[in-house]
Amino acid sequence: MAAILHDNEPKGNALRVLADRYIPRGQSTRTPTQAAVVRAKGCRLWTADGRKLIDFTSGVLVSNLGYAHSLFEKRLKAYRRGVPRNGYNMVTEPMVEASRRLVVSMARRNPNAQQVLWAASGSEGVQKAMWCAMHLHPEKPLLIATRGGFHGKKGLAADVTGETSPNPNVRFISFPLDAPFTEKDCERELAALSAECGGRAALLITEPYLGARGSYHPPKWYHAMLQEWCRAENAVFIFDEVQSCFGRTGNMYAFETYGVRPDLVVLGKGLANGEPGAAVVGRADVLGALDYGEGSDTYSATPGTCAAVCAALDVFREERVVDHVKKASKWLRGGLARLQKRFPFIRAVRGEGMVYGLEMTDAETANRCVLEAYRAREKKGVHFLGPLAQKVLRVSPPLVMDREEMDEAFALLAEAWARIG
Ligand SMILES: Cc1ncc(COP(=O)(O)O)c(C=O)c1O
Repeated sequence: MAAILHDNEPKGNALRVLADRYIPRGQSTRTPTQAAVVRAKGCRLWTADGRKLIDFTSGVLVSNLGYAHSLFEKRLKAYRRGVPRNGYNMVTEPMVEASRRLVVSMARRNPNAQQVLWAASGSEGVQKAMWCAMHLHPEKPLLIATRGGFHGKKGLAADVTGETSPNPNVRFISFPLDAPFTEKDCERELAALSAECGGRAALLITEPYLGARGSYHPPKWYHAMLQEWCRAENAVFIFDEVQSCFGRTGNMYAFETYGVRPDLVVLGKGLANGEPGAAVVGRADVLGALDYGEGSDTYSATPGTCAAVCAALDVFREERVVDHVKKASKWLRGGLARLQKRFPFIRAVRGEGMVYGLEMTDAETANRCVLEAYRAREKKGVHFLGPLAQKVLRVSPPLVMDREEMDEAFALLAEAWARIG
């Protein structure tokens, strides 16, 4: 990655130059700041040169409980005490407990939540969910996905990502974006798909909202209609909640927000609050379609990941995180609306819960906004990722952010973005 050098940041610049020397650019997505972070606590990050940043990213919707959260860290330590770091071909207590608790937590809202198949990353979770559906229906070759979705960069997850696929068995259906796409349009498209597929679709995979495509959150009827289509076609309905699970949309699970009961739900990112891991939760008959070893790998369901899932579930319950999100999302929406009113270069604000997209006029402005936010004041700023879909800034603070911090972030942004013409 070509090092970005900031004025008065000798330590950060030195780290960025070394990163440029030893790490190829393909390792990360492009960001205009390349923030060199040395410490994180709560909803704040500190750079190597002492800049304090309020985090508007949660990593990449991963550290939902913020950083070094005291109850989370305490419980994580307790749950993983004594167990080996890798639990391959072992039955460990954290793995059993995390699986049981995920099923219990989800089954209250969706009776299809019966078992858990673990994975090491979101895209691997998607891949495993798809394998299960394909093994359950070996006679059905077609894979349906929503156009413009993001499910990962690897294997089958990549095949069902985007607008076109190298996999001849993939068919895309429309997702409501800006242009009017009514229930009638959707009905027509699904009827045409049925006519083409004739019962040959093994699965349909969708995201609750299109995050990477630039934050498009569909009307409530959309997912219900897809679910109905899956029931009629006997296709497995897979909901990719890798980035939207665990409170992000204002409910514990995004399928609650959208009023559906998927056959399989893929969880990732915030699931373990920073420990790498993902899980597919769903119907036992579908997950059971894989035989011994067909869904196994070295780093799935490590005791550390599963302990982190248990610790995160503790914090959600004991600190009533979802109730907090319902309040905090109002502050967030209000703050973003005020920014939009003040700065004409913010063309649209789209989102729900604690995940929003700010669409800027163009890519250059969007990148400038990220950079100006970073250096809002001499030693303070707000941390964003590089823009999505060229010109959309994602706003996804830790779910536990309090009013004071959020107000401070908005004050910093108002100052910083006033410098943009
Ligand atoms: C909705 C969704 N699915 C899948 C993935 C892939 O997850 P991972 O990067 O952990 O493989 C992502 C990652 O951003 C995502 O947002």
